Amino acid sequence: MTPIRFPIRSERPQDGPQIEDLLDRAFGADRHARPSYRLREGIPPLRPLCFVAETEGRIVGAIRHWPVRIGDARPAVLLGPIAVDPAFERQGIGTRLVQTGLAAVREAGQEAVVAVGTPAYLGRFGFTAAGGYGIALPGLDEPRRLLALALVPGALDGAGGVVARVSPTDPPVRP
Ligand SMILES: CC(C)(COP(=O)(O)OP(=O)(O)OC[C@H]1O[C@@H](n2cnc3c(N)ncnc32)[C@H](O)[C@@H]1OP(=O)(O)O)[C@@H](O)C(=O)NCCC(=O)NCCS
Repeated sequence: MTPIRFPIRSERPQDGPQIEDLLDRAFGADRHARPSYRLREGIPPLRPLCFVAETEGRIVGAIRHWPVRIGDARPAVLLGPIAVDPAFERQGIGTRLVQTGLAAVREAGQEAVVAVGTPAYLGRFGFTAAGGYGIALPGLDEPRRLLALALVPGALDGAGGVVARVSPTDPPVRP
């Protein structure tokens, strides 16, 4: 059997610098100024929901997830950032990262996912315009890039509200 060329594995603490470098190259070093980064400020990622694709010790793709809330109370997971090294694009790595990530989110019992991303790309995994649920994220240059996915039918019905950073008083988000 042919081995998978770019195995996906859980992110490890020592992967941090390689991932930051990959994200800088994919999104630009000014990525931290984006509205989605306000949602992550001071909040650790959901570690068991962070994965990398690796080949010979080199990280060629990464996906992370953060806890967020929609409106005052509804817990959700922010998918992203996701990036694949430009030299390794169009080989299915991004697809496997998203599939692995969403399976882990589902496994963790989370029902709602939001993302700021390319509609044509994330649409392949079931994401639709978050505006259709009345969900918003102020400050986006292109509001149509705010996407949402209900992992359980109806999970986003009536979810209208602003995507917000979790706060220490929010109930803990699994995992
Ligand atoms: C978007 C990205 C993660 C895709 O990674 P990848 O490993 O090249 O993706 P895959 O090989 O799994 O591509 C799967 C399919 O999506 C398509 N696709 C890739 N990028 C796309 C895009 N920006 N828009 C629409 N479709 C896209 C590919 O053509 C491919 O189609 P096919 O299966 O019909 O051949 C990668 O290009 C990237 O890191 N881009 C820069 C960072 C970024 O924009 N991240 C946010 C994306 S939401």
